[in-house]
Amino acid sequence: MRSFTVAAVLLLLASSLLDGADAGYYGTKPSSSLTAIFSFGNSYADTGNFVRLAAPILPVIPFNNLPYGETFFHKPTGRASNGRIILDFIAEAFHLPLVPPSLDTTQNFSKGANFAVVGATALDLAYFMEHNITSVPPFNSSFSVQIGWFEQLIKTSSFSKEYKPDDYLSKSLFVMGEFGGNDYVFLLAANKTVDQIIRTYVPAVVNAISGGVERLIKLGAKRIVVPGNLPTGCIPIMLTLYASPNKRDYDTNGCLVKLNGLARYHNALLWREVRALRTKYPDTKIAYADYFKPVVKFLQKPTKFGFDGRTALVACCGAGGKYNYNITAACGFPGATACKDPSRAVNWDGIHLTEAAYEDIAYGWLRGTFAKPSILRLAR
Ligand SMILES: *[C@@H]1O[C@H](CO)[C@@H](O)[C@H](O)[C@H]1NC(C)=O
Ligand SMILES: *[C@@H]1O[C@H](CO)[C@@H](O)[C@H](O)[C@H]1NC(C)=O
Ligand SMILES: *[C@@H]1O[C@H](CO)[C@@H](O)[C@H](O)[C@H]1NC(C)=O
Ligand SMILES: *[C@@H]1O[C@H](CO)[C@@H](O)[C@H](O)[C@H]1NC(C)=O
Ligand SMILES: *[C@@H]1O[C@H](CO)[C@@H](O)[C@H](O)[C@H]1NC(C)=O
Repeated sequence: MRSFTVAAVLLLLASSLLDGADAGYYGTKPSSSLTAIFSFGNSYADTGNFVRLAAPILPVIPFNNLPYGETFFHKPTGRASNGRIILDFIAEAFHLPLVPPSLDTTQNFSKGANFAVVGATALDLAYFMEHNITSVPPFNSSFSVQIGWFEQLIKTSSFSKEYKPDDYLSKSLFVMGEFGGNDYVFLLAANKTVDQIIRTYVPAVVNAISGGVERLIKLGAKRIVVPGNLPTGCIPIMLTLYASPNKRDYDTNGCLVKLNGLARYHNALLWREVRALRTKYPDTKIAYADYFKPVVKFLQKPTKFGFDGRTALVACCGAGGKYNYNITAACGFPGATACKDPSRAVNWDGIHLTEAAYEDIAYGWLRGTFAKPSILRLAR
């Protein structure tokens, strides 16, 4: 139980401002620029909120320790990676500042804010409590709570004085997640079976996501990116916690079949919701961004993406074990060390991806290989 709390905190797990560095391999500046980027989510999107929330409470915050941040920032920033995350690459592509965490009080957020918090869920804490699920995120930071923070921000006097909210928000990009991955981790930790989760909880999670998207549309969002879930059965922490002696529980990539089935089902329902929202709000552009396909492709064709195929399922930063993931000596804690060349690794810390993997996914989302429609098209 206790070790699961650690795992949960880590999973829950997901600023410095660099001025729009050059667009690098995203090519030329998109023809029509965005005014701002607003982001919601969990540890896959957090750029420094969790570390600020946790500072007064947790004695050790792994994301505040090297080797987190070693590659690009050369210091920890609160991001759960060695360097930049997808959101950073999106911001760079539009020549906007890296999206600052909303809890960084030194920022003015005129070009966007990131409300994502490590551990955040799509469902509210109250939902878990009503269902007797007691292993829950450490902070009240679900999707709807994050949207509440966004509402507060745009209502502040300096913000509403400076911008015509309709015009400003309609030219902003909203990136919603992913959400759901943590909800399922907590449900699994509460011993719900994958079948139970699929039957009872996936529809609730997907409803919470689409409800949140709809709330933002009503607040003025017109360009929205909705990411699906990762192939959770290919993630080192899950491969370690749910290891099976039965070969048939694994697919040809070495991933856990059932957990990937859960993610696939979530993604199918979410895709259906995205299409329904497009019909309901025809003047709003909504992209579905695929997290599943790219990660599976990294495993199937590692060299094509510059990864080392021998370690594609192994965390770069860890303290040993088959997948280099050990819950009691996770990345950022004593005993864990990073691999020599994180640019050749898909997974960073057993849960989150490396900067190299995030960059490839961001490229696919921006250009359209892994997003429908592409984010560049959404921004036009
Ligand atoms: C939660 O637990 C309480 C007390 O054990 C029980 O009465 C209630 O029916 C449970 N609720 C659900 C949704 O399982
Ligand atoms: C979480 O925060 C929201 C918004 O501030 C509040 O309505 C809700 O009651 C809180 N939930 C818990 C469990 O504290
Ligand atoms: C926030 O920063 C922008 C860009 O640096 C500046 O133009 C704007 O006046 C600032 N707004 C507030 C409310 O301080
Ligand atoms: C889940 O099952 C395990 C193994 O049977 C047990 O040790 C653990 O206490 C259970 N957890 C919950 C939250 O019921
Ligand atoms: C995990 O790390 C702990 C503490 O360093 C160590 O005692 C334990 O043997 C490790 N477990 C595995 C499976 O490597």
